Amino acid sequence: MQIFKNIFKKEAIKLADFTDVGTDIHSHLIPGIDDGAKTMDETLDLIKAQYALGIRKFVTTPHIMSDFFKNTPEIINGGLAEVKNTLKSEAINVQINAAAEYYIDDGFIQKLENQPLLTFGDKYLLVEISYINCPDNIFDIFFKIQLHGYKVVLAHPERYPYWYKNFEMYQNIRDRGILLQLNINSITGYYGGGAKITAEKLIDQGLIDLIGSDMHHTKHAEAMERVCYEKYFAKVLQLNLLNRHI
Ligand SMILES: [Fe+2]
Repeated sequence: MQIFKNIFKKEAIKLADFTDVGTDIHSHLIPGIDDGAKTMDETLDLIKAQYALGIRKFVTTPHIMSDFFKNTPEIINGGLAEVKNTLKSEAINVQINAAAEYYIDDGFIQKLENQPLLTFGDKYLLVEISYINCPDNIFDIFFKIQLHGYKVVLAHPERYPYWYKNFEMYQNIRDRGILLQLNINSITGYYGGGAKITAEKLIDQGLIDLIGSDMHHTKHAEAMERVCYEKYFAKVLQLNLLNRHI
C-alpha cells in the first residue's frame, strides 16, 4: 500500500537555486525609507533568506516616487552605509550596493534633466510605470532617458495588465533597446494568474534580460523559496541573464 501511495504522490523536486543567477538587482532592503524592510532586523532576515538561496551580491533599489517616496541619493546612500555596517558587525558576507527604482512621473522627468540618477552596473537605470495606465508617451520618455546616456531597465513588465492582450508591446519595447526585468516570484503565481502567464510567455520567447526578487518583506522571501521548484525557473536560467555580469 505504501509503495502504491508513493507512485502516485507528486513529490516536489528542487530544480535549482540562485547560485548561478549572480546579482539580485531589484529589492527594497534599506529599512524605513520605502514600503520594503521596516527595521534593520527585517533587512537582515531578508538578506539571510536570500543568502540561503545562494545570493551573495545585491543592488538594492528603494522607490523614488514624487508623491509617496521622496527618496534622494543622500537618503539612499546614508541608509546603505548603515546596512553595510550592520552586515559587517554581524559577519554576514555579502556585497551590497544601492541604486533606485524610479517611478515614471513628472517629477522623474525633472530629475532626469537636472541631476545624476542612481544606476547600477554600466549606467543601468531601473524604472517602473503605473499598474493602471500606460503613460501615453512611454516611447518618447524611454528615448529621452536613453538620450541622457542611461540604459533603461523596465521593472516587472509582467505586472502591467494593460499589455496582456497587447503582447507585441514587449517585443516593441525591447526592439528599442529597453531591457526587461522579470520579478522571479511571478512564476509562482504570487502576483496572480495574469502575471504568471505573461512571465512564462516572456521566458518562452526569450524576452527577459534580468531577473529580480523585488524583495519587500518575508512573504516575498517565502515565495522565492518556492521559485526553486518551478520549471520556469530552470528555463529562465538558460537565458543570457545580465545579472551574471553585474
Ligand atoms: Fe520594486
